[in-house]
Amino acid sequence: TLSPIDKAKFVAAKRAVDYVEDGMKVGLGTGSTAAWMVKCLGERIRDDGLRITGVATSTRTAELAQKVGVPVVSLDEAKWLDLTIDGADEYDHNLNLIKGGGGALLMEKIVATASDELIVIADLSKQVEALGAFPLPVEVIPFGWQTTKALVEETLVNLDVLGRTSALRMNGATPYVTDEGNFILDLHLKRIGNPRQLALVMNQIPGVVENGLFIDICDVVVIGHGDGSVEVRD
Ligand code: A5P
Repeated sequence: TLSPIDKAKFVAAKRAVDYVEDGMKVGLGTGSTAAWMVKCLGERIRDDGLRITGVATSTRTAELAQKVGVPVVSLDEAKWLDLTIDGADEYDHNLNLIKGGGGALLMEKIVATASDELIVIADLSKQVEALGAFPLPVEVIPFGWQTTKALVEETLVNLDVLGRTSALRMNGATPYVTDEGNFILDLHLKRIGNPRQLALVMNQIPGVVENGLFIDICDVVVIGHGDGSVEVRD
């Protein structure tokens, strides 16, 4: 039997997979909630004969997809996707998101943007009044990352945020490295007053590859509850 939190993630994933139709090209998100979705897709392929093409947002997800029988091609082969289903670290009432807790924000944003629709699957703990309690991941090029970090923090001074510190994400004693070979700065902002502005300004800084704010990208949030019930926001 599942813990309430795993149950919530599972029922959200299961409901989101109902949106997938035969012949669709589907973006496969990353994280513990998205992993449930990949498994549910594998079941529908096996039990209902569903035919789909998947595009993975991380090597982790690609490996899981292969294990559970979800066919995966590159984004360049798929070119355009009908639907992406992914998790999130935070969502607000405008369905803007913070993503990248799992480190896959760059590929996730590319895949979500290449999709007609992004469906986020989450439990209620991800819902916030204002984004920013969860540290905002920013993917940076390793070259000169300390200079980039200083520039990022300097830029925050002029923006509507409460916190201004950032930390290089570590993997034990060495920097965490993304699938694309970059580093991640986690920005401790506490409260982001203007997420749209912050997202634009961050990506102007040389060395910054992408940030974890997903603005106007998400269409639907499917929220699972520990009692097995599901809510849909769109
Ligand atoms: C991965 O990079 C993130 O964007 C995930 O979508 C996010 O961290 C959610 O993960 P969980 O479903 O494990 O909370």
